[in-house]
Amino acid sequence: MAGELHPVIDTRGRGMRDMRISVTDRCNFRCVYCMPKEVFGRDFAFMDRAEILTFEEITRLARIGVAHGVRKIRLTGGEPLLRKGLEALVAELAALRTPTGESIDIALTTNGSALAVKAQALYDAGLKRVTVSLDSLDDATFRAMNDVNFPVAKVLHGIEVAQQVGLGPIKINVVVKRGLNEQDIVPLAQHFHGTGFVVRFIEFMDVGTTNGWRMDDVVPSAEVVERINAVLPIEPVPSEYVGEVAARWRYVDGGGEIGVISSVTAPFCGTCTRVRISTEGKLYTCLFADHGHDLRGLMRGGATDAELEAAMASIWRARDDRYSEIRSSLTEQLRRSGHHVEMSYIGG
Ligand code: GTP
Ligand code: 5AD
Ligand code: SF4
Ligand code: SF4
Repeated sequence: MAGELHPVIDTRGRGMRDMRISVTDRCNFRCVYCMPKEVFGRDFAFMDRAEILTFEEITRLARIGVAHGVRKIRLTGGEPLLRKGLEALVAELAALRTPTGESIDIALTTNGSALAVKAQALYDAGLKRVTVSLDSLDDATFRAMNDVNFPVAKVLHGIEVAQQVGLGPIKINVVVKRGLNEQDIVPLAQHFHGTGFVVRFIEFMDVGTTNGWRMDDVVPSAEVVERINAVLPIEPVPSEYVGEVAARWRYVDGGGEIGVISSVTAPFCGTCTRVRISTEGKLYTCLFADHGHDLRGLMRGGATDAELEAAMASIWRARDDRYSEIRSSLTEQLRRSGHHVEMSYIGG
């Protein structure tokens, strides 16, 4: 019986607490750091419908995850709102309960382009909160970064609608890339200061093999903090829970909080409790893993719940990933040859 299982622990003592599920590999944006047009062009082969997990399959994996210790589920993509009828999946996930009867924290990461249309249905289905990617407030920079000429005003409107329907607290994710949007750090902080929205500045990472990452492109979080502090003084806040990826800072004047996610300069692998399920049902134990474990094959091959549970537990028990901690010791060549999974496929 699923409800009787104990939380499963990996080789470094980390539980499986957050499940990130990619519901589509497609996106209507072509962010230069994630799905560059040269690679994800007109003839790029996205997955067929038959390849991607059905809502039933996703819910089955989520239920097993919850029995093994998962307490937070994040829907990602690609752009998750491109998946038809996503609210039906949200409703199924919202109905899941832990072995002690508690509900699960369900969140969604979105580019915000369809939020104005979808927010109400998602909220009604049981979604609690959304995290919106927004790399600049400057329309020209925003259009250049999403590379499909999408106006920033539409995303800001989507964020407003999401707040009005009650999807909160809303977090705003900003990937900072040197020379591209570093001039937007302070304006973003100022814009959301005093609004209750939490802006999180993320160090540009070397995910996948297509974004041409170089250490020089990273704006260290310490610099982000320094730049904001010079204009709006901030002080550190202790983290809310073990394994929180964002270091929190609050405005001294009471104007709320910001976060910095330092995956490159201060890795947080030691407390990484994230399990990732790709669009086609592969389980990845790390954002930088070079292969996934095929759970879809097991499910479609007729595996019982007990067999699936055993498979997921044994994969997790063998887990020893800590890529971000060892990144700096890898040679450029090893780094480039070592991993091939794209963020748009595995989910942010
Ligand atoms: P909440 O606190 O629940 O809102 O979510 P979170 O802090 O886990 O943040 P979110 O899921 O929005 O992740 C923010 C960003 O942090 C991602 O888009 C990634 O860029 C980065 N990130 C998240 N998880 C990992 C991870 O496991 N490893 C690395 N290296 N980066 C991560
Ligand atoms: N570095 C850091 N974060 C990234 N994301 C995508 N690509 C990268 C990268 N190279 C994250 C962003 C975005 C989410 C969908 O994925 O946070 O908001
Ligand atoms: Fe799409 Fe998000 Fe990747 Fe941008 S970062 S291309 S919005 S999945
Ligand atoms: Fe977790 Fe891998 Fe990211 Fe480290 S690099 S925090 S192990 S996903």
